[in-house]
Amino acid sequence: MTTTRPRATRTGAPFGACTGALVMAAACWLTALPPATAATPGGTGLGRANGLGDPVFPALGNTGYDALRYDLDFVYRAGTRTVDATAGITARSLRPLSGFELDALGLDVHSVQVDGQPAHFALHDEKLAVTPANPVPSGAVMTVQVQYTADPRAALPHSGWVPTPDGFAIAGQPDSAHTVFPCNDHPSDKADFTIRVTAPDDLYGVANGSLTSTTEQQGQTTRTYTSRDPMATELVQVSVGHYTVRDRPGPVGVRLRDIVPTARAADLEPALALTPGQLDWLQQRLGAFPLESYGLLPANTDAPDAFGFTGLETQTLTLYKPNFLRQPESAIGSHMMHELVHSWFGDSVTPQSWADLWLNEGHADFYGLLYRYERGWPDSLGLTSLEARMKDTYAKGDQWRHDSGPVAAPDAADLFDGQRYLGGVLVLYALREKVGEATFARIEQTFLQRHRNGTATTQDYITTASDVSGQDLGGFLTDWLYGTHTPPMPGHPDWTVSHTTTVATTRGTATL
Ligand code: ARG
Ligand code: ZN
Repeated sequence: MTTTRPRATRTGAPFGACTGALVMAAACWLTALPPATAATPGGTGLGRANGLGDPVFPALGNTGYDALRYDLDFVYRAGTRTVDATAGITARSLRPLSGFELDALGLDVHSVQVDGQPAHFALHDEKLAVTPANPVPSGAVMTVQVQYTADPRAALPHSGWVPTPDGFAIAGQPDSAHTVFPCNDHPSDKADFTIRVTAPDDLYGVANGSLTSTTEQQGQTTRTYTSRDPMATELVQVSVGHYTVRDRPGPVGVRLRDIVPTARAADLEPALALTPGQLDWLQQRLGAFPLESYGLLPANTDAPDAFGFTGLETQTLTLYKPNFLRQPESAIGSHMMHELVHSWFGDSVTPQSWADLWLNEGHADFYGLLYRYERGWPDSLGLTSLEARMKDTYAKGDQWRHDSGPVAAPDAADLFDGQRYLGGVLVLYALREKVGEATFARIEQTFLQRHRNGTATTQDYITTASDVSGQDLGGFLTDWLYGTHTPPMPGHPDWTVSHTTTVATTRGTATL
């Protein structure tokens, strides 16, 4: 879906900031799209070279069209624990297309139709190449239907499926949503979603958004969920299990509901009951909650390999490892806040590329830590203030830049390193020290308003910071975000950076 800002589209409009500075190279990756006049296949036919050229995952996404909406239909077969699915993709062609590609991996594709006509298809690398019966003219809205079967337990090079004893959940971030449904699997192309889940009556199917209809037939219940707000493919959630729906009072216009494994509902209630208070706290800082609903989905598995992290901000329904939530508030409150922040930073405002991930994780940790220290809960280092934690993080600055790259220039191997999390917090802290708390708060809220329901680049954040503060922060933030050395910390001339060693120290995510 094309967002409100012209340069967020994938039509190759040049980035204004692309002249000069080497550090801006990461922001220029969308300009490389070939202009095409004759009908062309959506890809180049060169396998993994096809893609949008994301700086972290170049092969993700596809040229030639803009996905507008997805109508996904999942039928869970309890006997085989497999899923029969139909994906409907409505897209606008951006040039005449004799063919196009969708991202897809591990899907057993049975048939493809384009505008109701059977189409040729072939799977190669992580793409589903589609050749429609008739070429699609430029600017046409086409409807693609893909019928397929998927096995949540299949061993794939990477998978977005989380198998559970009673069904499955989804953790597609960053590059695995296309193991669940064929799609334009890149966060720059948000779209509308309607998701239907059919499961035997004793199970319960859920997905992002609001339940809009329920039908029952021959022992199978189908639930339809519609998302009010556009969504990135990485944020899709679909789950089937023995679930109970727990509604709770929330702010006007926001439905709060958790989806909880029935057998664990009593155990998890103390944790789940924390959300309304956290939401009040965060709305005072970031403004009104941007989505239609919020809740937690503790999937029915604690298997260490089910997914390699504690929580994931799937839109309106945060996926969690249930055992994590069976701890005292002081051990989970900061992390729950982190995930709640993602409703604003990550879901409502989505990174334009994976190089912009620090916008998600830096902000999520920033408010997660503030919440922790306000409550007097010591962090994983035993520190009790943001200033103390930032001084410690500052000392590690050069080492982290050495090990994990600059904050806004990750690669696939170090994408989720602490540098994107605490390293991002350090950038935000430096900005707050430079402009003061009140201006910082206005920068945050302005950025969220400007890019709500869209995508944003690191440069967009820099632009907003300069606009709101009335000073050119381009050089300051560029050094902090892209520099290989840690800049001086405003207001703390005494803070020092430790000597860098060649032994990497920061792999894996940092703990709050
Ligand atoms: N975005 C998640 C969080 O910090 C973490 C996900 C880490 N790993 C991943 N492959 N997505 O809330
Ligand atoms: Zn996060």
